[in-house]
Amino acid sequence: MRSTIYNALISKMTAIWYAEVIDRVPYGAQILDVGIGTGQALLANRDALMSRNIHVTGVDIDRTYVDACLAAVAEAGLSDRIEPRLQSVYDHEGGPYDAIYFSASFMLLPSPVGALEHVIGLLKPRGQLYFTQTFEHDRSPTMERLKPLLRLMTTIDFGQVTYEDEFLETLEQGNVDVVENVVIERRRKRSYKLIVADPREVEREQASEEDADVEEGEGAELEEQERYEESKPLSLTAFDDEPE
Ligand SMILES: C[S@@+](CC[C@H](N)C(=O)[O-])C[C@H]1O[C@@H](n2cnc3c(N)ncnc32)[C@H](O)[C@@H]1O
Repeated sequence: MRSTIYNALISKMTAIWYAEVIDRVPYGAQILDVGIGTGQALLANRDALMSRNIHVTGVDIDRTYVDACLAAVAEAGLSDRIEPRLQSVYDHEGGPYDAIYFSASFMLLPSPVGALEHVIGLLKPRGQLYFTQTFEHDRSPTMERLKPLLRLMTTIDFGQVTYEDEFLETLEQGNVDVVENVVIERRRKRSYKLIVADPREVEREQASEEDADVEEGEGAELEEQERYEESKPLSLTAFDDEPE
């Protein structure tokens, strides 16, 4: 029931947002979809996913949505191309990804800056961040009060009302540079926008240094293991070779 409400209210609109992103990522891209929901918006772009050979890992913390998503992906015959997981973005350690996409999910996270800091480490060297989001044009205290209440009526978390200046400030704090900022659709009081961003070089360098430290650590472990193997008494070596 919750998934049906969700599909009726959200997916038709966000399918167009996903199309904009799928159109921009490189051919053969590996994408992380943060907050994949029921996956309907993504599945509406099945043909583009296939023709552009795109693979998607989707994470979401809502079990009902992830179960619906898994079923829909299997029914569409795309289980080898779309992998939904019940997991918070903060716990995800997959990748590396060409693109990390937040569709209507970034500003409802408890720490958007923390999410950025985490996912930057999951990007490939030229990987990019994509955001699609509704922005109110003018300050609206009424909408600020109403939007959180929509959850009670629809069961969907729409997060807080978002203003573009606050959103861009959050990206700034997360050390990313906006490289594209376009309107997908403009309405009287709000716009739906796509924003593409690159992590600042310093962030990428830190992430790759951390990776190098891990690899160095792994290398040292391997060397230690090899030294142990060489110095091991013959009896132990023979024991290791015994069939079970
Ligand atoms: C408004 S919905 C958008 C769904 C979909 N991306 C779309 O555009 O149709 C936001 C989604 O983010 C998910 N979400 C919230 N917190 C999350 C977290 N920490 N990690 C992953 N997903 C999260 C919610 O469960 C919800 O499914």
